[in-house]
Amino acid sequence: MKKIILITGTTAGIGKVAAKALAKQGHTVIIHGRNKDNAQAVCKEIKSETGNNNVDTIIADLFSFADVKRMSEEFKVRYERLDVLINNAGALFGKYRETTTVGLEKTMVLNVFSPLLLTEFLLDVLEKSPSARIINTSSATHKIAEKPNFSDMQHEKNYSSTGAYPLSKLYTIWLTRHLAVELKKRGLKKITANVLNPGVVATRFGQDSDKGFINNMIFKIALLFMTKPDEGAATTVYLATSQ
Ligand SMILES: NC(=O)c1ccc[n+]([C@@H]2O[C@H](COP(=O)([O-])OP(=O)(O)OC[C@H]3O[C@@H](n4cnc5c(N)ncnc54)[C@H](OP(=O)(O)O)[C@@H]3O)[C@@H](O)[C@H]2O)c1
Repeated sequence: MKKIILITGTTAGIGKVAAKALAKQGHTVIIHGRNKDNAQAVCKEIKSETGNNNVDTIIADLFSFADVKRMSEEFKVRYERLDVLINNAGALFGKYRETTTVGLEKTMVLNVFSPLLLTEFLLDVLEKSPSARIINTSSATHKIAEKPNFSDMQHEKNYSSTGAYPLSKLYTIWLTRHLAVELKKRGLKKITANVLNPGVVATRFGQDSDKGFINNMIFKIALLFMTKPDEGAATTVYLATSQ
């Protein structure tokens, strides 16, 4: 069965490669981006390279919860059901703590809260699918996460980019496990919750932010040895489509 698949963070990296592979398989793919021109350029590229015209765009800045809500409402106006939600967008920020316009720490907002909120808002359309799946994106760095401090989840007292990122990916695993239980409790038996680690993939990830001289150098050199994005998207594509 051809699926309706929404994937966040599709203007670059793993998300873009995964979207292209899924479109190639004939699924309806909704490209998400925060910048309209970038999202439309990716949409055009995927349509022309795959010959699949069922590729659409949806715009939202995931630093804004209002945008996440608007995006979910817009999705429901256009589509009656959602078969696969891939929460892929994510980032590692710089050495200084950055906040969104409402003062929330960016790593937590982008990697944890917005995917959680988007999932919650889309549960009703996921339930309309005969068999839906939610796919969250974690990272092997969850293994090196510090002990969480639940009274400082915004990293106000203690922030480092290399501390905030692994923790956000540990929370992603915990929240996915919690979601699996919650879905059963709410009687949403047709939806499954999945979480993946894409591996270490040579994308723009972590390259733009200033993590300090040594970390910046490590990231640049490591690019040479990392998995190419095509392979890095394999797990995402597998989870979205495997029986
Ligand atoms: N690459 C790796 O080695 C690696 C390893 C483990 C896990 N991961 C995870 O895999 C996922 C994808 O990473 P990637 O390597 O493909 O990174 P990437 O190349 O940097 O792409 C990140 C995507 O997220 C989007 N994004 C960032 N901030 C956003 C915002 N505020 N609102 C909307 N979209 C936003 C970016 O959009 P713009 O183009 O607008 O910036 C881009 O499309 C992330 O969750 C990352 O944590 C990556």
